[in-house]
Amino acid sequence: MKKPKEIRSATGKLGVLLPGMGAVGTTFIAGCLLAKKGVALPIGSLTQLGHIRLGKRTENRAPLIRDFIELANLEDLAFGGWDLFRDNAYDAACNADVLTKNHLDAIKPELEAIKPMSAVFFPEYVKRLRGENVKQSKNKMELAEAVRQDIRDFIRENAVDRCVAVWCGSTEIHQAPSEVHSSLSKFESGLSSSHPAISPSMVYAYALIKEGVPYANGAPNLTAEIPALLELAKKHRVPLSGKDFKTGQTLMKTILAPGIKARMIGINGWFSSNILGNRDGEVLDDPESFKAKEVSKLGVLETILQPELNRNLYGEMYHKVRIEYYPPRGDQKEGWDNIDIFGWLGYPMQIKVNFLCRDSILAAPIVLDLVLFMDLAQRAGFSGVQEWLSFYFKSPTTAPGLYPENDLFIQSMKLKNTLRWLVGEDLITHLGYEYYD
Ligand SMILES: NC(=O)c1ccc[n+]([C@@H]2O[C@H](COP(=O)([O-])OP(=O)(O)OC[C@H]3O[C@@H](n4cnc5c(N)ncnc54)[C@H](O)[C@@H]3O)[C@@H](O)[C@H]2O)c1
Repeated sequence: MKKPKEIRSATGKLGVLLPGMGAVGTTFIAGCLLAKKGVALPIGSLTQLGHIRLGKRTENRAPLIRDFIELANLEDLAFGGWDLFRDNAYDAACNADVLTKNHLDAIKPELEAIKPMSAVFFPEYVKRLRGENVKQSKNKMELAEAVRQDIRDFIRENAVDRCVAVWCGSTEIHQAPSEVHSSLSKFESGLSSSHPAISPSMVYAYALIKEGVPYANGAPNLTAEIPALLELAKKHRVPLSGKDFKTGQTLMKTILAPGIKARMIGINGWFSSNILGNRDGEVLDDPESFKAKEVSKLGVLETILQPELNRNLYGEMYHKVRIEYYPPRGDQKEGWDNIDIFGWLGYPMQIKVNFLCRDSILAAPIVLDLVLFMDLAQRAGFSGVQEWLSFYFKSPTTAPGLYPENDLFIQSMKLKNTLRWLVGEDLITHLGYEYYD
């Protein structure tokens, strides 16, 4: 990353465009509106509540991140998006059943005013959903052009200065990159011939990047990491990040695993099971969508524990992840982890984690932070994959050829050091210089 000569100011309105306005999307929007009114606190958001230590510990400097570096204000956000269903954000939030009626009614007119634009949707990519609010066009290029027009209309109607997009749509089926994804020219011909390997999320990402809008991917879909879209993002100087919000069980995993490894404790088995009953759970009940999620969830331990370096400790580890759709639980997921560990001389022990979480409550602050940091990245002139935002993702996208960093604490250090570096502050290395005086 080259240090920017200047970071453009965050003045003016920032448009937030969400492909997918379901449980996560509406919980995020409602939370921003409630926080703006002072009705509730944006808990879980680093940009709103987090401090950053600067200089030596003796200096006692630890400003709020949002006072340290210029970020867009909650007051300046304007919300929009696309969905398969015509429900406005108030009705969609009521259906999602995450927030209480009290909270939703406090911002009812603002939520009702947010109506989803018609979606780009190919049912073969999300087998459990059918929607009525879908664009009809001759081919996928025409659909991309229609999304570009939506973006321009949104910017004009809401008088916004710049936009950021975060994919909050359903998880699409698992697919591997193929020839049509390998270059921009092949991808554009594929759009014109409606190539079957071009997914709805790729059509949105193409349109958004073409319009200069940064794109963050909250689901495990194969989207912006394909060479064609990386090439497009470089050309239009647009930041990208992804993928799959790090919430719930995987968040816990990337908190626990680095600690276990730091103490050189062995693991021979990690079994993770979940029940959830929201629409996301219903979509993941389809084996092909589950496959995308499974790949994303399984990857994290490998890069944290590095079994190739620590054969005696993790060489034989068995890792399994299950997600079961269980409607009575709604958005209030429950996860169980059984971790079989071993210590001194190989003696076995166990850890059990039972996490009763709320999926969208954990995801919403991530959406907010990504919006504000992706906007910062663009104002700083960054483009392509923003690895410093790996902190927010289960399966961080990296520059080609690099392995992802999944350890939450390294990710946090990388994020904060990037902010220090941007402002010209010393990086914090935790080295005790005082010992050498
Ligand atoms: N909540 C979490 O903790 C969490 C964590 C990681 C990832 N995610 C991912 O975030 C995404 C959203 O989760 P959710 O709980 O809000 O799901 P949800 O089912 O409540 O909402 C998804 C919305 O996307 C819409 N949609 C699907 N395809 C679309 C398309 N092509 N264009 C426009 N809209 C489309 C659906 O109609 C639905 O309203 C999912 O992919 C989920 O896997 C969620």
